[in-house]
Amino acid sequence: MSILIAPSILACDMKRLGEEMRRAERAGADILHADVMDGVYVPNISFGFDFIKAVRESAGIPIDAHMMTVCPEKYIKELKNAGADGVTVHHDIAPKEEIIKTLWAIKNEGMRAAVALRPKFPAEDIEPFLPYIDMALVMTVEPGFGGQKFMDDMLPKIAKIRAAAPKLDIQVDGGINEETAALCAEAGANVFVVGTASFRASDMKNAIKKIRQSAEKYEVE
Ligand code: DX5
Ligand code: ZN
Repeated sequence: MSILIAPSILACDMKRLGEEMRRAERAGADILHADVMDGVYVPNISFGFDFIKAVRESAGIPIDAHMMTVCPEKYIKELKNAGADGVTVHHDIAPKEEIIKTLWAIKNEGMRAAVALRPKFPAEDIEPFLPYIDMALVMTVEPGFGGQKFMDDMLPKIAKIRAAAPKLDIQVDGGINEETAALCAEAGANVFVVGTASFRASDMKNAIKKIRQSAEKYEVE
């Protein structure tokens, strides 16, 4: 499975958004990770569709929208129109059947669909969604803020999901750097969201290269 590195836009210098997105692309980013926060599902508010559109107009690589919001189903069209290529929703915002409907709606717009689990939820919670998703997101911090410490007790969860879904993209998000990426890759993750350790590194290209290399040591077939 290919190793993909997804810098989190939250950590960029937002007053120079366009230049920062081009810098990420030049530094070897595979995906741009856009954290949408509504101040309800998480205690922070980040940015919305016009911002994602500005990202789209600045860079050519895929954009993943991580919806840390209630009611993401209301905004699938807006996300598509803004230029998102994938949408991740948290599974605890609605009953299972509603989440599955939302995943279908995302796929119907031609985008990749993913489900995220906050730290307190077990690996088993992903199972009902496996037939409908392109990716599972295992949060390795409490969602809401960049720059937090990686929770290493999430590693068994990654391993359990990998055992249940050998071909699924498994993304990790929160506190990822060269060391924690290796731990996650060893457990079975292959998509790495990196905020602080990418945009705020002294050399972003080198940082991405190092994170990719440390994950590749454990790349699964
Ligand atoms: C946290 C967000 C993350 C965050 C990661 O709620 O989902 O994407 O920006 O930032 P770092 O890599 O700094 O932990
Ligand atoms: Zn995120």
